[in-house]
Amino acid sequence: MTLAQKVGQMTQAERMHVSPEEVREFHIGSVLSGGGSAPGANRPADWVAMNDEYWAASMSEEDGRLAVPVLYGVDAIHGSNNVLGATVFPHNIGLGAARDPELAAEAARITAREVLATGVEWTFAPTLAVAQDVRWGRTYESFSADPEVAASYAGRIVAALQDASDGSLGPDGIAACAKHWVGDGGTTAGVDQGDTRILEEELRRVHAMPYRDALEAGALTVMVSLSMWNQRRCHAHRYLIEDVLKGEMGFQGLVVSDWNGIDQVAEEYGEAVAQAANAGIDLFMVPEQWRRFISALTSQVQSGAVPMERIDDAVRRILRVKAACGLFSRPRPAQRKWSNHSSFGSPAHRAVARRAVRKSLVLLKNEDGILPLDPAARVLVAGKNAHDRGSQCGGFTVAWQGVSGNDRIKGGTSVWEGVRAVAPHAVLSEGGSAAAAATGSGELPDGEFDVALVVIGERPYAEGMGDIRDPSPVRPGAPRMPAGPEAAAGPEDAAGPEALQPYGQSLELATLHPEDLAVIRSARARGLPVVAVLLSGRPLVVTRELAESTAFVAAWLPGSEGGGVADVLFGKAGFRGTLPFAWPANDPQGDDPPADILFPVGYGLRTK
Ligand code: GLC
Repeated sequence: MTLAQKVGQMTQAERMHVSPEEVREFHIGSVLSGGGSAPGANRPADWVAMNDEYWAASMSEEDGRLAVPVLYGVDAIHGSNNVLGATVFPHNIGLGAARDPELAAEAARITAREVLATGVEWTFAPTLAVAQDVRWGRTYESFSADPEVAASYAGRIVAALQDASDGSLGPDGIAACAKHWVGDGGTTAGVDQGDTRILEEELRRVHAMPYRDALEAGALTVMVSLSMWNQRRCHAHRYLIEDVLKGEMGFQGLVVSDWNGIDQVAEEYGEAVAQAANAGIDLFMVPEQWRRFISALTSQVQSGAVPMERIDDAVRRILRVKAACGLFSRPRPAQRKWSNHSSFGSPAHRAVARRAVRKSLVLLKNEDGILPLDPAARVLVAGKNAHDRGSQCGGFTVAWQGVSGNDRIKGGTSVWEGVRAVAPHAVLSEGGSAAAAATGSGELPDGEFDVALVVIGERPYAEGMGDIRDPSPVRPGAPRMPAGPEAAAGPEDAAGPEALQPYGQSLELATLHPEDLAVIRSARARGLPVVAVLLSGRPLVVTRELAESTAFVAAWLPGSEGGGVADVLFGKAGFRGTLPFAWPANDPQGDDPPADILFPVGYGLRTK
């Protein structure tokens, strides 16, 4: 291979910034979709057609070119979640609350097939963060604050995604990516991409632990964290990548950088590239500036700053992963077994997601045993999230920051749609609508009711834009292009990097979303007992909402099958979930995680 071919293989560009012709000309090894970056109408057929073009370009042997198939990667972190009509599973925090790694593995197998339906062979999942401070915007991507719990999911999910557990890829598998190496969930005050200031013993015992199971299960790729360890960027940390991950732990697959992660390594770009390459990164996620990267790395090799042995090791790993994925023998995407498969978003897939929703729910309060509800009861359903499949799904769904409302989540059921199907006398309050909630009117309709079901909580967010901290711009994030002509651009699609702010400054729900308490109080004022259902990416301080509710359910981010919430509320299944994170009693101040705990890890009431 020529140096140009080797450096090209080490380059990963974003689909909006690289054409098939450029993949051919520059020997680009990998293409990705940033969150929400989708071709055409964002249906499987559009994705398969796009992948066909990239594949054909990468396999061209024109002008003596070497045919090396391109590897396409996406963030399929809770289903094939970029694509319209996909089955969207609960985010990891809900799967952690279910304490059922086998069910999570079943979800991963379905995710692999719905990703393969789009012609894609690689997902940047599972996230193995062991989040320690729920102020972190990515808490919902973590299975638990307990490394043992996170580890119990890691290997099962990798083996399920890859449809093998020996470092190869089964016929129904996609390459997994254990991320983000290492300590992403341990930053001070939960600041995204912040500094994890702990001793090596704790880094290994808490944050590195799940990776042992992931590597044991044959994970083919690992993504480096954008965070620091004791003020040194993970992206330039030779000890952590070369010595620990590849040396001591024996990782044989490829290490991929995170989104423009090398930009944060050093002021001078060439120096940053050299440091990151010499630290052990093999494939570079340089979404837009891939030409600049190719030129810089080429110069660093020619100057001797990056030894050819390091380049050869990186390319060998990349080719090894592509061979393990069977890419050299697989036909073009359009001719593969799962491409455009009818099982995409099927009722059978959704039934598994609905079962996961049921098991993920954690019952925090159930005064007078009001739950389960009687299906014949006159139920007033209110709250801004009562009929909002977008809020159910949270971030990394159709768009990077997620979407609100129901228009862009095709298929599935909102909580309201699940209630309506089982309780004939249920009424959805317009007063609980997003519009009314936004104005805080919280007005509820007239009529005789027995109980109010109020669905409250957060709006979708992703990464640093979900942080709870002082307002300051965060790094430019993944592209915010609308998912396709069908997908009306939402506010989050228009925001430019400079507009991206953290979610809020307080963990108190009443501070973040006062409209929720307003709706609860409106129902109480009518003399109704309130069953509150919280849709959120993390535990929140809900002292007042809890006090004014007769029952209170943590439903996390359940995904497209909100009907699973209704199943348990009306007794089709019992509450079984337990807290994967301690529930704070009040807003933490300063750098330390919340210390005053209302409910401990493992807490959860049960019903029959
Ligand atoms: C993001 C995330 C990472 C994701 C990548 C590609 O910034 O940190 O988890 O896989 O970029 O979207």
